[in-house]
Amino acid sequence: MVHKRAAIILAAGKSSRMNSSLSKVLHCVGGQSMLAWSASLARAANVSRAICVVGSDNDDVKEAAKNLGLDIAIQQQQLGTANAVMAAEEILGDFSGNIVVLYADTPLIQIETLEKVFTSLENKSSAVVLGFDTSEPNSYGRLITEGDRLTAIVEAKEASPDQLSISLCNSGIIAFSSEEIHETLKKINNDNIKGEYYLTDMIKIMSEEGKVSTFVMAPQHEVLGVNSRKDLALAENSFQALMRNNAMEAGVTLRDPSSVYFSYDTIIERDADIAANVVFGLDVKISTGAIIYPFCDIEGSFISEGSKVGPFARLRRGSVLGKNTKVGNFVETKNVQINEGTKVNHLSYIGDAEIGENCNIGAGTITCNYDGYKKYKTIIGKNVFVGTNSSLVAPIKIGDQAFLGSGGVITDDVPSGSLALARAKQVIKIDWAHRFRKAQIKRKKSN
Ligand code: UD1
Ligand code: MG
Repeated sequence: MVHKRAAIILAAGKSSRMNSSLSKVLHCVGGQSMLAWSASLARAANVSRAICVVGSDNDDVKEAAKNLGLDIAIQQQQLGTANAVMAAEEILGDFSGNIVVLYADTPLIQIETLEKVFTSLENKSSAVVLGFDTSEPNSYGRLITEGDRLTAIVEAKEASPDQLSISLCNSGIIAFSSEEIHETLKKINNDNIKGEYYLTDMIKIMSEEGKVSTFVMAPQHEVLGVNSRKDLALAENSFQALMRNNAMEAGVTLRDPSSVYFSYDTIIERDADIAANVVFGLDVKISTGAIIYPFCDIEGSFISEGSKVGPFARLRRGSVLGKNTKVGNFVETKNVQINEGTKVNHLSYIGDAEIGENCNIGAGTITCNYDGYKKYKTIIGKNVFVGTNSSLVAPIKIGDQAFLGSGGVITDDVPSGSLALARAKQVIKIDWAHRFRKAQIKRKKSN
């Protein structure tokens, strides 16, 4: 039997431990907000409803949730996680099926792990909690168990010393059928140290009513809950470790894995070779056989087969490198198409440009793409030789096979096959240097 699924994503907390003007759940891990991680987890679980619970004054979270296509429920006051789930009840309407509660401050849960929760629920448990074992249980809620059964969750603040020594903890993920949201949740009170309505209390209430709750285990690195900047850094580390591992398993060489940084959407094909100290921003695809040398910063770029980048290259949004191209040291590119076999080897800025096949762009070439108001395009044909230290003042077109002499400020289009020289003619003054030096020495002596 196929069970309908809904997700309630809790994102209304006060974020006080984060000490930030940005809401906690909008802080990013792997280049994507924690809220977006929860939304994509819900989507991966094929939920028919995804409701985000937002605080009434969290306009930034509301906006982000809307952009992520989530339904929005408002929690008027932050009275605790149970109160937050109940805030979603109205929007849930007559939904009938299984509900999972996701905490938007827990970004690293994998879909395989969430599926285990649903499977366990579908095997006739009344509620299923995702637990994990840790040597540092700190402020996590502790799972009180009897064999496979879960009888209660005790918040760390409420726990006895004996309970605090339990290493089995609550990840925050809990799943139950839609009936429980209507029946059990309203039985939760706020008679505790924080004066909050704890969602976790539903397990004890259900157990006392003879309903069976269970737990399934998650790997600890997936369930890290982010409450502070320190936790955010730990989550980022954990995400990076996962990406590095996945890349290497997919046949990518990482010369020094711990110094390579990925975004959630980085794609690197088999047999690409990535050196130390490389940072991949959002939206990067690296094709097979490409080599990225050390100290490169790459975002919004597509790098084709066999291309070489760096060391010390910065590829910005919209950089598309064709096959067997080379973008070398201290080169910055932006919004540029560099076609097969072309080399931009040293010290250049190439922005808003199209460069044909098999060109050589000399050291120090700059596309002057901006006049302080608008951006303009540079179009270079194929087999063009651009001499070193050329400034190409856009908009400009350089025809196929053209040759630009070094040091030119090129302001006019250059027809195919022609030479363009745009620099002052050289002047030679024979013996001038000797005479100059002699005169200087004489002057020094007479002082
Ligand atoms: C919670 C759990 C704890 C678990 C831990 C896992 C409860 C009572 N405790 O503690 O057992 O081990 O997560 O990380 O559930 N939120 C609201 N409205 C509120 C309060 C919170 O939407 O009124 C949201 C927060 O934005 C957050 C989530 O619920 O996304 C969890 O709240 P948080 O304050 O972080 O709970 P923890 O103390 O971490
Ligand atoms: Mg938390």
